[in-house]
Amino acid sequence: MNHTEPIDIPVIAIDGPSASGKGTVAQLVADTLGFHYLDSGALYRVVAYATHQNNIDWNNATAVAACAKTLHIQFKHGEVYLNGTDISDQIRTEAMGKGASQVAVHAALRAALVDLQHSFRISPGLLADGRDMGTVIFPEAVLKIFLTASTETRAKRRYQQLLGKQQPADYEAILQDLKTRDARDKGRASAPLIMAEDAILLETDTLTITEAVHFILEKYQQKMCK
Ligand code: DC
Repeated sequence: MNHTEPIDIPVIAIDGPSASGKGTVAQLVADTLGFHYLDSGALYRVVAYATHQNNIDWNNATAVAACAKTLHIQFKHGEVYLNGTDISDQIRTEAMGKGASQVAVHAALRAALVDLQHSFRISPGLLADGRDMGTVIFPEAVLKIFLTASTETRAKRRYQQLLGKQQPADYEAILQDLKTRDARDKGRASAPLIMAEDAILLETDTLTITEAVHFILEKYQQKMCK
């Protein structure tokens, strides 16, 4: 029988802060390699959304984790489904991004999402995108990238993105919000946003998306041809 054990399935872990362009780059790398794609941030956003719908306080660790265990989350063609309903637009708001960062501090919630994240490791490979992919969820990833950019660059990108979607955008408020989220994601006790010791730093301030994608594909090829 030709059965591939999960441990033999390659994982590329891309971690980094909000609005670094990580999602776009990660998705393109996954598409190029024909890999599955795990957007772990979307899981925390779904939990923020579902708990909000159920009037659960985002600071209530026990209730947030208990609620998360009841959720049926699916990804289909880039859309996110909760209990069969497409909630992609609802979770992609600034409010749910902020909520995701708040619920993500709870160790009980993080533990409740581990098996689900591991289940994405399917042949021929997985591109895992998040904050703790290379440090906690897939420490044995064959390639770890820490993708980042200065806070100002990220705020500008988020600002342009909102304008592009004809949504109200206030640069100073976005900058402040990113700083708060960075501090929370980096400062939490459970799986904080840090660069894994064996990760490669990729600063994208002066790089195009295509250049960042090429950089990662090249590093992957080098790792696999060793
Ligand atoms: O990538 P994103 O902006 O959709 O993530 C939203 C929040 O979810 C982020 O601020 C922190 C949290 N998160 C996390 O704690 N661990 C992950 N692996 C992914 C996201």
